Amino acid sequence: MARRKYVVGNWKMNGLSDAISEAQAIFSAATGHQSVDVALCPPFTLISAMVAAAPGAAVGGQDCHSATSGAFTGSVAAPMLADIGAGVVIVGHSERREGFSESDADVQAKAEAGLAAGLSVILCCGEPREVRESGGAIDFVLAQIAGSVPASFDPHQLAIAYEPIWAIGTGLVPTVADVAAMHGAIRGALAARFGDVADDMRLLYGGSVNGENAAELLDAGDVDGALVGGASLTAAKFVPIIAAADALG
Ligand code: 13P
Repeated sequence: MARRKYVVGNWKMNGLSDAISEAQAIFSAATGHQSVDVALCPPFTLISAMVAAAPGAAVGGQDCHSATSGAFTGSVAAPMLADIGAGVVIVGHSERREGFSESDADVQAKAEAGLAAGLSVILCCGEPREVRESGGAIDFVLAQIAGSVPASFDPHQLAIAYEPIWAIGTGLVPTVADVAAMHGAIRGALAARFGDVADDMRLLYGGSVNGENAAELLDAGDVDGALVGGASLTAAKFVPIIAAADALG
């Protein structure tokens, strides 16, 4: 079966209460694009309000702890996200791997926690600039995949987001050929480990996706969607990306 396109907004640490109207505008526009699945991952503080403002929409967290509860000051557990109506969680974003020293094993444990809580998990990977420049990007990313993808999962519940670190927030994007090569390598590694299940997994590209480059990136081989940062903060910028995905769906 063909994989449906999936466009996810990662709001990172942006947004106060007045941003909920922007989310409403995004989800409202998304109902006119039936061939694409859309999700928004705002800061934890906005999840409940977003769920209330857009009933039935896919809203998620940007991280979760691997434990279900306990003495982990400042952390949020996956069942807590599910409890407030979130359906999605991002794990292993490079801003967490780098800024919070999360290892592949940490990311794997978080992904397992998200799956166990019934959340749809988006597991991120991606290489730093010097690795890309030295020609080692594919090996680097496949090692992240080997170390952070859980041992078993429902392929419809786990998506992989390839986000080259040097492309995040910089306006730089890899060539379409490089994106296709990386996504093909990721799917090949998943197929070697998990068999046919890999065909059902969605592989998202992330890093400076915008309304101008989305159609080309989303049409690249083995690209099933986009994980979008800056351009997901407003309907004006995000809806064209959703529309581009819909047109390819
Ligand atoms: P930008 O789209 O702002 O480059 O961010 C990408 C990203 O990190 C999404 O998770």
